[in-house]
Amino acid sequence: MEQPGFKTLIEADDIQRRVREMAECISVDYPESSPLFIVLLKGAFIFAADLTRNLSIPHEIDFITLFSYQNGTKRSADVGVINHIRSHIEGRDIIIVDEIVDTGHTLSRLIRTLKDHNARSHRICTLLDKPDTREVKIDVDYVGFTIPDVFVVGYGLDYRERYRNLPFIAELTPEIKNTINS
Ligand code: IMP
Ligand code: MG
Repeated sequence: MEQPGFKTLIEADDIQRRVREMAECISVDYPESSPLFIVLLKGAFIFAADLTRNLSIPHEIDFITLFSYQNGTKRSADVGVINHIRSHIEGRDIIIVDEIVDTGHTLSRLIRTLKDHNARSHRICTLLDKPDTREVKIDVDYVGFTIPDVFVVGYGLDYRERYRNLPFIAELTPEIKNTINS
């Protein structure tokens, strides 16, 4: 259901259908290695919850918080780690779960860390991909939807910590931005 001021880009039903398809693909690709899902907080928490509940294979889940956006919609290549992964990485098949790949700096930072810890393999699973804004090359293995260069909110994605709870993906309109800024 559309709320006033939101310009819906992807409907809730379409997200749910696609997430189920992605989980089915992953379940087929990893029949017996019990992969470790590393979920990027905070944005991927809703996607990861729906994705993993649709998996039919044994798996483990861990979380990491990286940051690159200082504020609002401003981008930065400077990526830091807030909390580290506690799971054993060495020799594991890792599936990184992110809600959106934008410049690629965040994932490139995480991939460096996984290589340092001798992961056996890593793949990237993202709900949204914004290829037009990429600054570093990243191979994305599972993509829900490819979107243009617009700032979006909902289904885990925020603008200044708001709107993560929307069940759909919406474009951030100037009208909504003004409500938050005022
Ligand atoms: P990167 O630019 O690929 O490093 O992406 C960094 C992070 O910025 C993503 O994981 C999101 O948390 C956030 N981000 C990028 N684009 C958007 C957007 O359109 N809406 C909300 N957050 C975004
Ligand atoms: Mg993120």
